[in-house]
Amino acid sequence: MTTHALRGAFLTFDDDPFSVSPEQAMRYESDGLILIEDGTIRAAGSAAELERTLPADATVDRYDGVIMPGFVDTHLHFPQTEMIGAYGEQLLDWLDTYTFPTETKFADEAHSARVAEIFLDELVRNGTTCAMAYSTVHPGSVDALFSAAEKRGMRILTGKTCMDRNAPPALCDTPQRAYDESKALLERWEGRGRASYVITPRFAPTSSPEQLEALGALAAEYPDVAIQTHLSENHGEIAWVKELFPQAKDYTDVYDSYGLLRPRAVLGHGIHLSDRELEVLSERGASIAHCPTSNFFLGSGLFDMARAIDPARPVSVGIGTDVGAGTSFSLLATLREAYKVAQLNHQSLAADKLLYRVTAGNAQVLGLGESIGRIAPGYEADLIVLDPRATPLMAARDATSESLAERLFVLITLGDDRAVQATYVAGVRVHDRDEAPVGVSFESR
Ligand code: GUN
Ligand code: ZN
Repeated sequence: MTTHALRGAFLTFDDDPFSVSPEQAMRYESDGLILIEDGTIRAAGSAAELERTLPADATVDRYDGVIMPGFVDTHLHFPQTEMIGAYGEQLLDWLDTYTFPTETKFADEAHSARVAEIFLDELVRNGTTCAMAYSTVHPGSVDALFSAAEKRGMRILTGKTCMDRNAPPALCDTPQRAYDESKALLERWEGRGRASYVITPRFAPTSSPEQLEALGALAAEYPDVAIQTHLSENHGEIAWVKELFPQAKDYTDVYDSYGLLRPRAVLGHGIHLSDRELEVLSERGASIAHCPTSNFFLGSGLFDMARAIDPARPVSVGIGTDVGAGTSFSLLATLREAYKVAQLNHQSLAADKLLYRVTAGNAQVLGLGESIGRIAPGYEADLIVLDPRATPLMAARDATSESLAERLFVLITLGDDRAVQATYVAGVRVHDRDEAPVGVSFESR
């Protein structure tokens, strides 16, 4: 067995800095060594201690930057890669004008396969090694993303987006087809290599009660499988849900009444929730994916993080890019917008809290907290190297930083894909910034 190692400063979270002090939560080794065998971290600690345990034939990659666990994205849409930055609309018109026509193109399997590659390239260039993504209604789009991820050894969670009303006929299935196709995909992919299937009703307005019932039945058959949908993003959407489901107590109750809220259920946005709804989410163990760049871009509103995680009835919160309503694949860029949203709510989020969220925190939200998101023995070796001096401005600013906390906060404020020097998936370097190819196309040539 060959041992591979990374040497340099590393940063990881052993606990949640929202519940314990930063010193207790965070582990920083200024000269660290991470030993990897068969894609798994075998040991991680100070180089001074571990160097002598290195086998003579071990290969060592040395870095000047900061090694971290690969970022985890809890919410984005792979088919929307090609429509990022669509101008001028809020949620419901944005879906009709841009999103649905774009998703129709995924009936073509070659198109799905092409966009899947671009999507995964973009993830690793941005230091994201695991993502929970929506595919389209077409089962072939799910196969395309899982197959492309399998070739790269990447941990991807996805599912067929189910819709049977209020969408173009070409994007609609039926309750029975949603159940049958989701179940067949789940049976094919769940637990195969690093794949996890996600039961995926798009959101309440595009599913009939019968479809939500069918997906609730599927969820009950597979109690450990992940679920994703959208919740309470936009006021027009919330009013529409009230009309479509007049018997429900509120938007959250729609999903609850069909058994769709539980641990590993990840609800995109959750901006305009009542106290009752937050209580239900807390009781069920479901999570919210906070997607700040999307919320700004679609003018959806300001998510109140402190209110959501209130220890009196805590709801777990992940961070997502929500591409293509989100405006960046970079979780660094997403974190700085999360910081700004918090500022507008008169809260401040320090670098440790932000970086915890996109590593160990997001892994926990996806039910993968024992496998990824940390640099520790037994964890999968999904790692990134961040370069706090990636641009002339960052280098100049970094020289004035007086503490690790300051250095990391500036990295979040100024960093993006340029600050991701290298990305490792299961111990294999899949991205090297200084060798990265450029030039991709969404259309076949
Ligand atoms: N709500 C239902 N579908 C979508 C989507 O594709 N993007 C966002 N941001 N919200 C949604
Ligand atoms: Zn979304």
